[in-house]
Amino acid sequence: ERATSDLSQALDIDQNATLLPVTAGGRIYPEYIADGALVVDDVTRCVVEYGHSETILPKYANAEGKPAIKVHDYRDKLIMPGFIDTHVHYPQIDMIAAYGEQLLDWLNNYTFVTEANFDDPKIAHDTAQFFLNQLLANGTTSAMVFATSHPLSAEAFFAESHRLNTRMITGNVLMDQNAPEALCVPAEQSIRDTQNIIDNWHERGRQHVAITPRFAITSSPTQLRLAGELYASHDSVYLQTHLAENRDEVAFVQELYPNHKGYLDVYDDMGLLGRRTTLAHGIYLETPEYERLRETGTQISHCPTSNLFLGSGLFNLPKTLGYTGVSIATDVGAGTSLSMLTTLSEAYKVQQLQSNQLSAHQGLYQITLGNAQSLLLDDKVGNFMPSKEADFVVIDMKATALLERRMAQTKTLEEQLFVLMMLGDDRVIEQTIVAGQSRYRKSAV
Ligand code: GUN
Ligand code: ZN
Repeated sequence: ERATSDLSQALDIDQNATLLPVTAGGRIYPEYIADGALVVDDVTRCVVEYGHSETILPKYANAEGKPAIKVHDYRDKLIMPGFIDTHVHYPQIDMIAAYGEQLLDWLNNYTFVTEANFDDPKIAHDTAQFFLNQLLANGTTSAMVFATSHPLSAEAFFAESHRLNTRMITGNVLMDQNAPEALCVPAEQSIRDTQNIIDNWHERGRQHVAITPRFAITSSPTQLRLAGELYASHDSVYLQTHLAENRDEVAFVQELYPNHKGYLDVYDDMGLLGRRTTLAHGIYLETPEYERLRETGTQISHCPTSNLFLGSGLFNLPKTLGYTGVSIATDVGAGTSLSMLTTLSEAYKVQQLQSNQLSAHQGLYQITLGNAQSLLLDDKVGNFMPSKEADFVVIDMKATALLERRMAQTKTLEEQLFVLMMLGDDRVIEQTIVAGQSRYRKSAV
């Protein structure tokens, strides 16, 4: 029997209130509990159980029928697992929404200029802190993140994430060519930097390291090869980079590597593919490349607001899913919102333009358990199965006058969730709980 005193947070939601852990097993099986309860152990900070409040609450009541544990009442709110963003650049929060360019000019004219500032530990620390708080305000509790090529930028991010106890993946960005001097680090040095960050941060608390070559254009063959060797020498370290986002980018890679079969083949040749690899974008791929993604288990991260903002192109979701795992991500600062709900709404429109659909169930599954699976974190986060880490968001489905009015017209859960996906953003996030601790609460207006 569990000592009830160990269980501090029973999340009781009354009539009309809802709980939505989304699970999958080949297909998507969303689970919705009107008037649910979620029990969290305040020592392990993991889920003990969830279910209908009328079954759960009596188990944690004393002889008089009063709660023997701390109960938080989120009447009328929706509780969902914390959102997961599989591709985002924290230093770029300072140049989000920069006007007028497509990828390569955007990188040269805005991105690299901003990233060069991250040799300053104070800027790195302050920006990491601001960025992580913005993630929490958007309901995001885990992310795979780009820092800059300065090792201290990754270290500052880890330090702040460790303090908040968010589950995050990052690393120093590997760049040694085709970029400003201030951002280039010679191949051997950059790999030593990553090794050092692995030693200091990998699997310390909830932090994970990703080997992070920026993309084929800004790394020499030597740097990519060393990155592949480092990846092969560590079982649990991640690898992240960009792939086939923009037509001019693909053409430049072809120029740099005329003897390779294509963009993906460069990464393949350097040993960068595998189940722990996440490649952002993957818009312009040929059939043999999709097949190689499948064979290697390499994951694709789809970034709709970024693809639209930079005019990169339309990602084919059903086609890519036919070959490999796809996650969904914001890609801020090319992406224009840190909200995973806004990201889903743009993903829906990107698919509409190609006569494909994206249901609310599929979308909400994707930003929780689906993204967790893609990052191999689904044993830890993504839903409310017992012993998962208690990362969750409390959502106000009627947070704005428009949402309230529109929700009043809905007849089904699917309809409500679709409206949430299309109209929801940071305004619907009432509270964000990270490993059982409240880390964000929307200020009362
Ligand atoms: N390709 C290489 N670097 C970047 C970046 O910072 N953002 C995007 N969207 N694509 C990239
Ligand atoms: Zn990116």
